[in-house]
Amino acid sequence: MLETVVSSRAMEFIPQVAEPPAKLYLLVVDADPAVRSACSEIAASLGYAVDSTGDMGQARSLLRGHAADILLVNMPYGSNQGLELVSEVKLLYPGMSVIVMTASGTVNAAVEAMRCGASDYLSKPFAIDELSTVLDRAAAGHVTDTASRQLRERLRLSQGLGAMIGRSSEMEKLYRILSKVAQSSHPVLILGESGTGKELVARTIHAYGPSAQKPFLPVDCGSLVPTLIESELFGYVKGAFTGANRSKDGLLVSAEGGTVFLDEVGELSLDLQTKLLRALQEREVRPVGATHRVPIKARIVAATNRDLAAMVEKGTFRKDLFYRLNVVNLRLPSLRDRRDDIPPLAAHFLDRISRDRGAKFTLSNEALRTMMAYDWPGNVRELENAVERACALSSGPVLHLGDLPTQLQQHGLAAHRAAAPGEADNAGQAQVKPLAELEREAILSAIRTLNGDKLQAARLLGIGKTTLYRKLKEYGIADSLPED
Ligand SMILES: Nc1ncnc2c1ncn2[C@@H]1O[C@H](COP(=O)(O)OP(=O)(O)OP(=O)(O)O)[C@@H](O)[C@H]1O
Ligand SMILES: [Mg+2]
Repeated sequence: MLETVVSSRAMEFIPQVAEPPAKLYLLVVDADPAVRSACSEIAASLGYAVDSTGDMGQARSLLRGHAADILLVNMPYGSNQGLELVSEVKLLYPGMSVIVMTASGTVNAAVEAMRCGASDYLSKPFAIDELSTVLDRAAAGHVTDTASRQLRERLRLSQGLGAMIGRSSEMEKLYRILSKVAQSSHPVLILGESGTGKELVARTIHAYGPSAQKPFLPVDCGSLVPTLIESELFGYVKGAFTGANRSKDGLLVSAEGGTVFLDEVGELSLDLQTKLLRALQEREVRPVGATHRVPIKARIVAATNRDLAAMVEKGTFRKDLFYRLNVVNLRLPSLRDRRDDIPPLAAHFLDRISRDRGAKFTLSNEALRTMMAYDWPGNVRELENAVERACALSSGPVLHLGDLPTQLQQHGLAAHRAAAPGEADNAGQAQVKPLAELEREAILSAIRTLNGDKLQAARLLGIGKTTLYRKLKEYGIADSLPED
């Protein structure tokens, strides 16, 4: 049957599939010379560099000399040789795409091969376009895999500004998912406690994705008033409201294929949730005050430190919007669950400050020990602030326990007292609280006294709601509060 594949007439009908970006190397292994030459000829005409052999042993030595990008191998009836080759290849070259060919009716062999790591199969006899489709699929998979491997490697090696620091197994797991996610255009929902790096992850997804040259546009749904969020996201026309002297595109439009980052998406009002859902479903928006609709092309990455699933249960977050945003979710580990990352993160922030100030700062052993033992409710942001504060207060290049914020000092002294209970209490210095700590306590106590009513708390504290939210973030205490 496969002879039809080789006939010159049939060759005229080779479908126009996109040529693989770089010449990929394909090895065809089949004892039947007709199948071999048919497959080789078609693949070569599609732009692959092709080798073929009828012998499993020779296939092994060819692969040792030059690992193929794609292996197309027959599963001979009544023999395990094909399966053995697939298993071996996937063990030695996990990145190689393997397509198996099976005789009609021997589905089991294909199932077995897929279990051993084959990514696709062709059931004989097959037509030219079936062959080109599976090759195309394997090539696309190979390109994505290679890109995501390279990205993983770059993420692993990168230490520069904006790069993510941390080699704990939790972070390695995150990088693996992140590198795959970056290559796609699906919405991503980033979950994690305050200060765990949600925005940094969103920026990394954008920076390593195919639209990195396009804009990355953040919208803080937590601190903007709803009318402002609406006009930011959807745009407005001239005269839509007082002060709208001219029309303005919304971020969903001006992203032009880039990324719109919906930060604190859990804070969106129900009305805005409905409007956003509609925009995402219909891929168009109606600017404020307009009668027309405008098409949008933007990747949506959203983040929240709220438990959105629980909010859906309570009816404060739309279930359909949750599903739409939650196509892929990335859960960022809290810092206390990856303590191994504390020293490299601290070193990273110290290096940055040392570069800025032109003076080298280091941590004393006691300070670092305390940092390792502390629970960091405000995560990496709190660590960054602690290091910055210590550098600002320190009288020399070595940062001591006394230079760290009060909560860390108290933690360190408590640990010290527990280790040496007979020693005199020399915590006198720690009784003097820095202004920032007093402010933090004032905010916490106001919100607790008012049963979580942040608006009222801001009013009584004499600050705006936006300032309150900023301070909550700064002090890394948003998570320890009752929900709005
Ligand atoms: N893995 C990391 N490597 C280096 N810096 C990090 C890392 N994670 C977070 N940071 C830094 O910590 C700070 C807080 O990160 P980011 O703003 O991304 O957190 P977030 O989860 O969005 O916080 P919030 O919930 O408070 O908005 C930033 O300055 C960021 O650069
Ligand atoms: Mg954030």
